[in-house]
Amino acid sequence: MFQDKKVVFSGVQPSGSLTLGNYLGAIKNFSAFSDEYRCYYCVVDMHAITVRQNPAELRRRTYDTLALYMACGLDPEKNVLFVQSHVPAHAELGWILDCYTMFGELSRMTQFKDKSAKNADNINAGLFTYPSLMAADILLYQTELVPVGVDQKQHLELSRDIANRFNGVYGDTFVVPEGYIPQTTAKIMSLAEPSKKMSKSDPNENAVIRILDDRDTIIRKFKRAVTDSGCEVRRGEGKEGIENLISIYGAVTGKNPDDVEAEFDGRGYGDFKLAVGEAVADSLENVRSEFARLSADKKYLEDIMRKGSAEAARAAMRTMSKVKRKVGFTDVR
Ligand code: TYM
Repeated sequence: MFQDKKVVFSGVQPSGSLTLGNYLGAIKNFSAFSDEYRCYYCVVDMHAITVRQNPAELRRRTYDTLALYMACGLDPEKNVLFVQSHVPAHAELGWILDCYTMFGELSRMTQFKDKSAKNADNINAGLFTYPSLMAADILLYQTELVPVGVDQKQHLELSRDIANRFNGVYGDTFVVPEGYIPQTTAKIMSLAEPSKKMSKSDPNENAVIRILDDRDTIIRKFKRAVTDSGCEVRRGEGKEGIENLISIYGAVTGKNPDDVEAEFDGRGYGDFKLAVGEAVADSLENVRSEFARLSADKKYLEDIMRKGSAEAARAAMRTMSKVKRKVGFTDVR
C-alpha cells in the first residue's frame, strides 16, 4: 500500500509526561504527512535509558506515548506506529554507525553537554553515542523528512553527515534526510523561565504544560506565566515570555502572530494569559478524552505495537542487508 512513497520518520522519548512543546513542536504536525508519505512514528525507549529510568514507569510511559500518538490524530492504519526496542535493527545499525561517527563530532553535541551537566553522576557511553542511534533510527527507513523541534537540529545534521560519510565510502546506501522544523513553534519556552526550552524533565511543574493536564491546571499555569513588566501584547526585545505566549496562542487558534498582536491591542497581560490558557485547554480537550479511552485498552495498544514493529522490521531488514554486505559482514543464511 505504501510502495513508492517517500518516507517520514520521527520519534519521541517516553521519558516523562509529554509537554505542549512536544505537541506543538512535533506530534501535532505528524498527521499532516500521513497521506503523502509512508510515515514511521516511533516511541524511542532505547534512547530513554541513557538517563536512569524507573522500569515500571518507563513501561507505562511507553504505552502512554503510543496512546498519545493516536489521541493526537495518528491513525494506525495510515502510519507505522511502533516501539524502538521491538525492532532490534535499531541497535544493530546504531553500532555500525558508531564506527562511522567521530569522537569529536559527538563531543560537540550541545544536548550531550547539557545532559552531562544535569546527570554528572551518570555520564554513560549511551548518552555520548545517542546521536548515532538517532541516525540509525532515521537512516534505517531511507527517510526523506524528519519532523522535529529545533532542539533536534544538531542531531539531524549529524545524521546527514553520517549518511554522507557512509555513502562516500560505500556508494549510495542511505537517503540523506531533511529536517522539517515548524516556523513559530519549533521551540516552545518554559513558562517560568522564558529563556529556557519547555522540557519534560523540568522539576518546576509551573514551567511546563503537560498535554494531559486538566483544564483548570492549564489555565492556572498560564495565569502564572512569567512575562515582563510592560503591558503590551507584542513581540520584541526583552519580551520572550509574551512572544512565547503569542506563538502558543497562534498555533492553537491558527492565527498568525501579527493578528494575535492586533487582537490583544490595548488589552492587558491578564486578559491575554487567560485567553491563551482557555485556547490551549480547548485544543487539548479532545486529545485528553481520546487518550483516556485508548490508554484503557492495553490489549489494543499491544496489537498496534506488534503490527507496527513487524512492518518496521521488514523495512529495516532491507537496509540492514545492504549495509552488512557493504561493510563486509558474511552472510551464510
Ligand atoms: P524528545 O522526546 O525530547 O522530544 C520529542 C519531540 O518534541 C520536540 N520538542 C519540542 N519542540 C518545541 N518546543 C519544545 N519545547 C520542545 N521540546 C521537545 C523535539 O524536538 C522532538 O521533535 N532525540 C529525540 C527523539 C528521537 C528522534 C529520533 C526524533 C530519537 N530518534 C529520530 C526524530 C528522529 C528526542 O529526544 O526528542
